[in-house]
Formats: sequence, structure tokens, C-alpha cells
Amino acid sequence: MENSGHQLRCTGCGRVSEQRELKADFRCPDCGDLYEVVYPSWSAGFAAAEEKKPNASALRWLWKERCSSNEEADQSGVWRFRELLHILRDEKNIVSLREGNTPLYSLRRTARSTGIAKLYAKHQGMNPTGSFKDTGMTAALSVAYELGYEWVACASTGNTSAAMAAYAARAGMRSLVLIPQGKIAWGKLSQAIDYGALTIQLRTDFDGCVRVLAEIVRRAPVYLLNSVNPYRLEGQKTPALEIAEALEWEVPDHVIVPGGNLANSSALGKAFLEMKHLGLTARLPKISVIQAEGANPLYRAMRENGGEALYPVEAHTRASAIRIGNPASWKKAVRVIRETGGWCEQASEAEIALAKAEIGEEGIGCEPASAVTLAGLKKLVREGKVQSQETVVLLLTGHTLKDSDYTIAYHRGDLLRPDEVGALRTEIEVTRRNAVEMDASADLVLRELERAKER
Ligand code: F0G
Repeated sequence: MENSGHQLRCTGCGRVSEQRELKADFRCPDCGDLYEVVYPSWSAGFAAAEEKKPNASALRWLWKERCSSNEEADQSGVWRFRELLHILRDEKNIVSLREGNTPLYSLRRTARSTGIAKLYAKHQGMNPTGSFKDTGMTAALSVAYELGYEWVACASTGNTSAAMAAYAARAGMRSLVLIPQGKIAWGKLSQAIDYGALTIQLRTDFDGCVRVLAEIVRRAPVYLLNSVNPYRLEGQKTPALEIAEALEWEVPDHVIVPGGNLANSSALGKAFLEMKHLGLTARLPKISVIQAEGANPLYRAMRENGGEALYPVEAHTRASAIRIGNPASWKKAVRVIRETGGWCEQASEAEIALAKAEIGEEGIGCEPASAVTLAGLKKLVREGKVQSQETVVLLLTGHTLKDSDYTIAYHRGDLLRPDEVGALRTEIEVTRRNAVEMDASADLVLRELERAKER
């Protein structure tokens, strides 16, 4: 990996730039749009010689082979795919916590209840800091390290900050976290502090934190690690490679992803398009994005104008990870939905909470933002957009322990207001299991056990 050989292409006007020309806010100087990483030796749109393209079967073999290697880069589920993310000059600059290589679980109970026989969950919550952000963070933070930065920074709804703080600490770098005060889950806040970040709670929402950080990166030499940074998306491509690999390079019919700032859907879409372009896979899955009803700017844009214009909303949802009203990567996400033939759906607070409880009942668990995927799938099935014989993968983005307050409130019965529960009352009641308190008596415990058997 001596000469990384990548370039940056603006997704708006197509301008191609070198890494050293990038502005601190990662926006194109001509049109203000976001960049994507491209590889002139093999990316679509470059007239590269056919023999320069990596060989698909050799790559499949090599990536599998690396799973039994003791090299740090090979043990990472991101860097073992490094032929598709040639973003560093020197492999020695990789900062890794052995991210990726996450499980693809089959969801047996949920398969029965949704009528989708081949239903899987790709659990990105099984990453080192408990969310999918680690795959993007190892990529972009390694670039920051290679470029010699001392400070990195992000605005976050919690998971990005946890990941950034951990990887920065690992590299011996300093990190600045801006989070909306009182609006992120405790598990995530505690991680940023634990990993030594300078953690600042601003009296605003996530979108306000993004605005403040945009000014900071112009005025101070800090490296921005929000997902406008195109290197984040290169790392976030790898779950798609893992899904394809786990299914013997047969892509699923449908991949369903939660939508917040809309980088993840963009990264997965880029990965599936690249895999097809390189002949690793034969076709594309439909990629659908699900938003919370109270934080649904993409859903509205798709419905109201086919994704031509996005109007920011004031975001409200208990799924705090996706409480985002002005998503940075919306244009990239629209392109992925269009190119793959997917949809954008929304889910209510009650639908999200019920779906989270159902995933928990499988022994898998996830944080609320991840559960929008199942809530969305149920809608897509009802609308006839997903058929029972199709293979579907839900992308679970965060670990259930990230937001245990939410889980406890749901099972105690004080998460949702009665007007929110509505028609889902019975289904919700069936999934609720509150902890029972009693005196320390075996008789009392046995009585409770009998009662439980009858339920
Ligand atoms: N799920 C979880 C658990 C998240 O933390 C996020 C985003 C998303 C889904 C949405 O992904 O933004 O790529 O569409 N969390 C960011 C953060 C914004 O700061 O941790 P997206």
C-alpha cells in the first residue's frame, strides 16, 4: 500500500481532487457537495485497463484466507478487505480495535411472524464500541493519523463519539466530542468520557452541534470525523462485503437500514455497486432506508418530490441515535435507493419499540434506532414491496446495552403514551416483561415461576 492511489470525486459536479486538496469541511469548493473516494485503477467511470482490475475469485480467496492470519490488519473485518479501501499510503498507520467480522444471525421467530422465510440480522452492534461506527472510524481515523493530526472531532448523537474517542485513544490522539445536551443515551456518553475525549454538551440538538463544529474545523487544526468525511464511508462498506461473503457471494434480495444522517445507506450502496462492477457478485440488492416518523426528512422528500429536494425538520424521536433533522448525506442516499430500486419508509414510536422488543426476544437485542429496520420491514411486507420468498437482511446498527434506559422504560410500561400505543396495545402487552420485586423467599419465587408457566 505504498502509494494509496485513490482520488476524491464530488458527487455533485464530478470534480476529481487529490487528498491534499480537500477542505477541512470536506465540501467541494465548486458546488458545495460531498466527495466520494474513487480508485482510478478500477472504479466505475474511469477508463482503466481491464487487466488492472482486481480479479474477483482471487480476492474472494484472499479475504477468506486472511481470517486465519495473525497480522493485525488481517484480523480486522475492515482491513482484510483492504483492496477495496486503498486509502492509506502505509499499512503501518492502521488504527484498529479488531472491528468488523460481525455475525449474520438468522431471525427464526421474526421470520415466522413476518412471513419472510430467509430473514437475517447483520449485527453491527457486535463491534468493539458496540455500534457500526467502528468500521468507518478505523478507516477515517487511520487517515487522520497518517496525515499527522493531533486532534480529531465530531458532532454526534452518541455512537460516532464513542467510536471516535476509542480509536483516537488507541492511536494516542486527542478527540473533541460535541453532543446535544441531555439528548444522548447514557451508555454512549459514558464511553466518550471513559476513552478520554474532551466531551462538550451543547444546549442545542444534533443539527446545532454540526453547525458549531463546521465553524471549529475552519478555525482550528482539528480533523473532522463526521460522515461527511468520505473515508468513513469506505470503512462502512465492509459489512456489505461480509454479508455477500456469508451468503456465498449471492446477494440478498433486500437490505434494510436505519436512516439518520444517511451515511450508512450510502456506504452500503457504494459497496454493493462496487462488488457488482468488479464481478464479485452478479446483482444488486434493493436497499431500503427506514426513518423514525418524527425525524423523517428523507421519507418526506421521497414522497413529496421524488428525492429532488430535502427540507430539514425539527427532529423528535426516542430513538436518539437517529434524531436528525438535516441529514448530510441525503443526496447519496437518494441515489442508492434509486439505483437499487429500494424504498424509504417511516416507523412510529410504538412500532419501533415493539420491533425492538421482538428482536430482544430472539436473544439478539439492539438499540432503538436499529429496530426501525424490522418495523419498516413489516410495513414493506404489508404493502407488497417485499415478498415471502425473498432473502432479507436487517442491519442492526447498535448494541442493546447502549440505551438500557429505553428498554427498562418499555418493559415497565412507561416509555410510550397511551395515544402513541394505539392499535398496537395487545402486541405490546404480550412482549412486556417487567422485573418482579419480592421478599427473599423460595416459596414466593416458586409461585412466580408457576404463574410464568401459565403465561
Ligand atoms: N443507528 C445507530 C445506532 C446510529 O448511531 C446512527 C447514527 C444510525 C443508525 C443512522 O446512521 O447516520 O449513517 O444514517 N448515529 C450518528 C452518531 C449520527 O452520531 O452516532 P446514519
